[in-house]
Amino acid sequence: MKRIFSGVQPTGNLHLGNYLGAIKNFVALQDDYDCIYCVVDMHAITLWQDPGALRANTREVAAAYLAAGVDPKRCIVFNQSQVPAHAQLAWIFNCVARLGWLNRMTQFKDKAGKNREKASVGLYAYPNLMAADILAYKATHVPVGQDQKQHLELARDIAQKFNNDYETELFPILEPLILGPAARVMSLRDGAKKMSKSEASDMSRINMTDGADDIAKKIRKATSDAELLPGPEALDENGAVPEETRQARPEAYNLLGIYAALSDKPLAEAMTEFAGSQFSHFKAVLTDLAVAALGPMGHEMKRLTGDPSSVDAVLRDGAERARAIAEPVLREVYDKVGFLRS
Ligand code: TRP
Repeated sequence: MKRIFSGVQPTGNLHLGNYLGAIKNFVALQDDYDCIYCVVDMHAITLWQDPGALRANTREVAAAYLAAGVDPKRCIVFNQSQVPAHAQLAWIFNCVARLGWLNRMTQFKDKAGKNREKASVGLYAYPNLMAADILAYKATHVPVGQDQKQHLELARDIAQKFNNDYETELFPILEPLILGPAARVMSLRDGAKKMSKSEASDMSRINMTDGADDIAKKIRKATSDAELLPGPEALDENGAVPEETRQARPEAYNLLGIYAALSDKPLAEAMTEFAGSQFSHFKAVLTDLAVAALGPMGHEMKRLTGDPSSVDAVLRDGAERARAIAEPVLREVYDKVGFLRS
């Protein structure tokens, strides 16, 4: 079976964007692929993390995977730092990737900001560790949002250069599984910005652990506009929102996209349902749907984080199974590189 690897950073405040953009898809993929889902704690510390918070957030991401329906028997669920092969392979990739390649990474430029001299070396080398995550398992399919596409292309370049330099076919060719535009969830306050854990106002996002009252309040107060909702004739021939159309009414298309994703319906079908409706009617229906979909999941997440030893047991078992796959790959790599095993 084809192998999937994906990861989520434990940096706190998991929200609807993380759920629809990543975790919900992880659940759907487990039927057709051999899946490895990682909590990438080593990536998290490329920016400062409080140690206690990191531990709690690591359990929270694992709890989110489980509460969303990832089956830890069929899939491997673990945190990255428990499998040394990630760091070991990343070092080798540090020596394969070129400075010129990393200099082009837009995420580094965004995250480092103006004060690049003060950014950690880890933030710069982040994509090499990400390549190691995937390739330590020879995974071929990597479900990620659009924003990670550049990193995956880099991972592919690293695999190819390694294969070339060492005259081998050890690493497979990666296939990004770029998740659809429904995966792109925008802020409830400003439809031009991505929903983000770092936006100051909690009203801008629905957290995965929000209860029914908070969900209802946030949707009710979400920014809207003065017009009636558009029908499916606004879509292009592929059923997508043309960019100019979206920019004219970003909040309307964001909420419609959330509705479609939560109800597992194509956008055109969701838009047919609400064509010509008032926002107030649509928001009421969306609230019921969001509460029904997210409420039980948030509840289960809280139950799991309240029982940390059960989450830790899943991560321990996952890490053991992950090591059993990654260690032989690492030995192959070490042999190719010429590291002596005595
Ligand atoms: N960089 C990814 C993100 O921020 C997380 C990640 C780390 C990842 N390693 C990965 C995703 C390997 C896919 C595969 O979203």
